[in-house]
Amino acid sequence: MVLEPCWHKQSRTLRVLIVNGRNQTFNLPVWWNQALRPLGTGEGANSIVSTVENNSRALFGSRTLATIRQIEQFRYTRTMSSSDSYAVTSAAASILRRGGLVALPTETVYGLGANAFDARAVAKIFAAKERPFFDPLIVHLAESSWWPRVVLEFPPRAEQLAKTFWPGPLTMVLPKTPMIPDIVTSGLPHVAIRVPDHPLARDVLRLADVPIAAPSANLFGRLSPTTAEHVRQQLGDRVDFIVDGGPCRVGIESTIVQFEGDTVICLRPGGITLEEIESVVGPVRRPVPSFSDERSPAAPGMLASHYAPRTRLRIVDDIPRIPPSPRMGLLILQPCLGSEHYAQTEILSQAGDLIQAASTFFNALHRLDGANLDLILAVPLPDIGLGISMNDRLRRAAHEH
Ligand code: TXA
Ligand code: MG
Repeated sequence: MVLEPCWHKQSRTLRVLIVNGRNQTFNLPVWWNQALRPLGTGEGANSIVSTVENNSRALFGSRTLATIRQIEQFRYTRTMSSSDSYAVTSAAASILRRGGLVALPTETVYGLGANAFDARAVAKIFAAKERPFFDPLIVHLAESSWWPRVVLEFPPRAEQLAKTFWPGPLTMVLPKTPMIPDIVTSGLPHVAIRVPDHPLARDVLRLADVPIAAPSANLFGRLSPTTAEHVRQQLGDRVDFIVDGGPCRVGIESTIVQFEGDTVICLRPGGITLEEIESVVGPVRRPVPSFSDERSPAAPGMLASHYAPRTRLRIVDDIPRIPPSPRMGLLILQPCLGSEHYAQTEILSQAGDLIQAASTFFNALHRLDGANLDLILAVPLPDIGLGISMNDRLRRAAHEH
């Protein structure tokens, strides 16, 4: 737990943010303002610590006081800008710089971030997610111009793609610099990088001023989180801080590509469609639909069982008009005959729009998974555009685990 006091100049109030995953903010009594107003950085920070210590018993109770005493390093956040988001992003950035774990919203799904240059911090990601070390992480940058900090070269194809799709849900696998520790890439000489298109994520990246390694903020193999609540449910206390940026706009993970000479190879379909990529760089080698072995994946991220709800999921082309069991759920693109007979039906888009469907896809799966069902039936989506990405997730969710 970290304590971040923020002096709000305009309203002349002091806010203390208790950074403990619940992100509680306390507005302190007026006399605290009087005591703390003259403070700046440096010495000021120390007097905040002692004032907080002297007074926190009354304010927060003795348990918190004990934790406050354990704070190794205390940082006084400078004047807040006009909105509260600065308090949140600067708290997140300072935790990241100190080697902590922060869950961040991106336009695709929430990520579980750590300083990509800090191997110890990155190791905490694997522990929190219970993720095997053979599955490498995506490194997030604030700007395309950060690429020399993480990769050795940026070929013309990558440049074309970055110009068109960054910031956005496209990840490119490129030769890494020695600055990126092996734990990030599972020992591979290449690192996956992207610039996320979410203002809070980019603010945190800019303030932290280090690239952030972040897989999706879920337990390994489970459903990706598209709200802060999903992160809380799966990771809870394992993360130092959750930045709540509301539901993710795209709702499905980034498309991952790598390069072999002039050929662009898609490793994972995702938020940018293959058609969109092909309109920029010509034909893309499609992902191989076969699954690799759990213990030694041929290509990282190609595990058979992934993105899986706890409830069993089966893919069906036609749904039985009358469900064979009363505790059966249904995931479909558009309303269809008989869907009302299921215990819970999730319709992804009334109008059959694949972009809208992707934005609610994981949320719908989370709801079905929480509905105490025996089985979820899912009808595949049209195999075009984002439908390809969602079908990929469905196949892995349906694979026995
Ligand atoms: O949209 C996204 O990509 C989200 C947000 C948080 O950015 N991240 C995400 O990360 O989906 P993750 O770890 O859940 O999935 C990343 C995939 C993994 O399956 C991993 O195997 C693959 O990317 N990957 C990472 N580094 C790689 C590399 N060097 N070579 C090949 N594949 C890599
Ligand atoms: Mg993931």
